[in-house]
Amino acid sequence: MAIGFKQPFLLDPEVVFLNHGSFGACPRPVFERYQAWQLRLERQPVAFLDPDRGYAAWMAETRAALSAEIGARADDIAGFTNATSALNAVARSLPLAAGDEILTTDHEYAALDKTWGFVAARTGARIVTARVPLPLTDPAAFTEALMARVTDRTRVLFLSHITSPTALLFPIEGAVAQARARGIWTVIDGAHTPGHIPLDLDALGADFYAGNCHKWLLTPKGAGFLHVRPEQQALLDPLVISHGWQPDRSAPGPFGGTAFVDAMEFQGTRDPSAWLSVPEALAFRTAQDWDGIARACRDLATGTGDRIAARTGLPPLSSPDLRAPQMIALPVPECDVMWLKTRLYDRYAIEIPVLRWNGQAIVRLSVQCYNTPEEMDLLVDALAELLGLPVAA
Ligand SMILES: Cc1ncc(COP(=O)(O)O)c(C=O)c1O
Repeated sequence: MAIGFKQPFLLDPEVVFLNHGSFGACPRPVFERYQAWQLRLERQPVAFLDPDRGYAAWMAETRAALSAEIGARADDIAGFTNATSALNAVARSLPLAAGDEILTTDHEYAALDKTWGFVAARTGARIVTARVPLPLTDPAAFTEALMARVTDRTRVLFLSHITSPTALLFPIEGAVAQARARGIWTVIDGAHTPGHIPLDLDALGADFYAGNCHKWLLTPKGAGFLHVRPEQQALLDPLVISHGWQPDRSAPGPFGGTAFVDAMEFQGTRDPSAWLSVPEALAFRTAQDWDGIARACRDLATGTGDRIAARTGLPPLSSPDLRAPQMIALPVPECDVMWLKTRLYDRYAIEIPVLRWNGQAIVRLSVQCYNTPEEMDLLVDALAELLGLPVAA
């Protein structure tokens, strides 16, 4: 399957866009559907935002379409603007107390580290950060490294499914199962997974799983979700108490959803157009040979990673199976990461994240259907020139 189809995308053609991972990119038909929803909202806001005149049913249609994609029951997911707000709802709802422990890793997204830090400061709970053994090659070693840090005070296990700074695909299944068996709440940050890897959230069995649709599922910005196991739904407070909330959490919600769904989805006046565009994004992917595209993207990412590693001589952070398929973190020699990022953009128009993680300089490459082998060549040459990399042996 050939990739490199840029035409449906709205990205600036002057930019070599190698950072799908940060905020995604939305193809034109999906963006047009989004704008059609916005126009409809603006033409008759009162009718649009009346739950009984279509709004609640449209929200439910998105839940139904998305739930089939992620292996969940539609009543167990609620729409959120993004994964951060979904995870905030969880972190701020759990009844933690002084001395409780929140177990996490050294690969988490910085904003969520702040969220848990905030919660810990408020409650007196303690953050315990497990170091994941690198290179990550063995799911059992991953599970072991985490479970070795569990104590009788551990209340929460918080893990990314695909990590942000290191683009690893954490093999979370074993840790989720073992933590749940010990009565520990399992909270998973799946910001990068919907549309990127196959998901079966019911089979995974995490208590709370948040995801974004605006990254790899190709929706406009502002579409995410929270999946909560039915047993845990009554525990959750929405971040905003509004018309959708009611004190009796066992009664159906006021707008035809469950108490959980209505409390999370109806939180004051807002524009739900990005969320309502999820079915169109799913249809866009279905209309292509998406499995073939995803395979081609993964192969291009792997090949480019191999070429850069051959020039830097630095080993990969994981085996290929424990890496995000379309995103790869490439260790590069010691450098000023801001300088490198700016030079890549100013001199080559390459938009790509360059970051420092645990002391290591990293370039994080994303490959999406609009990228080309020529763009990969440009990246390899640009890095070689800027970092003075030797020619591969
Ligand atoms: C692992 C991870 N979690 C959470 C987020 C936050 O996503 P959002 O800003 O859409 O909430 C990101 C964003 O890149 C991420 O990489």
